[in-house]
Amino acid sequence: MLKIFRRAKIDSTNEEAWRLLKAGVTPPFVVVAEEQEAGKGRFGRSWYSPKGGLWFSIATQTMRPSETISLAAAYAVIHTVKEITDICARVRIPNDVVIERKKLAGILIERDENTVVAGIGLNLKVERFPSELKDTAISLHKVTSKPLNPHEFLKKISEKFLRCVETGDFTVGMWLCCLGKKVEFWVGDTHLVGKFLGILENKKAVFDLDGKELEIPLAQINKFRKFEEGQKQG
Ligand code: BTN
Repeated sequence: MLKIFRRAKIDSTNEEAWRLLKAGVTPPFVVVAEEQEAGKGRFGRSWYSPKGGLWFSIATQTMRPSETISLAAAYAVIHTVKEITDICARVRIPNDVVIERKKLAGILIERDENTVVAGIGLNLKVERFPSELKDTAISLHKVTSKPLNPHEFLKKISEKFLRCVETGDFTVGMWLCCLGKKVEFWVGDTHLVGKFLGILENKKAVFDLDGKELEIPLAQINKFRKFEEGQKQG
């Protein structure tokens, strides 16, 4: 059973997760708060976190790169939103989940070597955004009439995320947008570039590498993206 620590009002669930880790709590676990007084966004920004939103952090241990973990979190959010509301949200690489180009959820990955805290902020039932956010943020309850139970979202997203980080399977969803396109990916430390042809039922991805078809188990691919000429590697 996944450990869940619940807080009413707190500075930041990411901070609380680090405090719990320091105090000796063993990951994986989740910290959720009704309200954050010092919610953190990326690049030192603050994250608007009133009551009504779903603000939580998942602590776990993994060797996967942070970009991959971040995509796993986005995937877990997108699939849960689809399952519960039938709405198709999208990932805005690298860290946002959007609906109609407006931000539904943000993801903040922090790590200390293999210990990772993945903070997820999901605008579930945020009644009002401050003026600087009102054109760029969206709350799920504004676009669906389905009942939105925060506990159900929390449980589903956390479980999907942890499973994805363990297995690497989340790449399936992310890759659909790259079908038939030139992509680059890493198998261990080996960097490969080719055309992405699809995913087989046996959970292998198929690529065309210089005219040769290659099948690679999804779990062995630790980073994957559309290939852009001149893109920095890494
Ligand atoms: C971003 O888009 O800038 C990332 C936002 C991440 C916000 C979440 S809310 C739960 C967790 N606790 C924090 O302080 N931040 C993350």
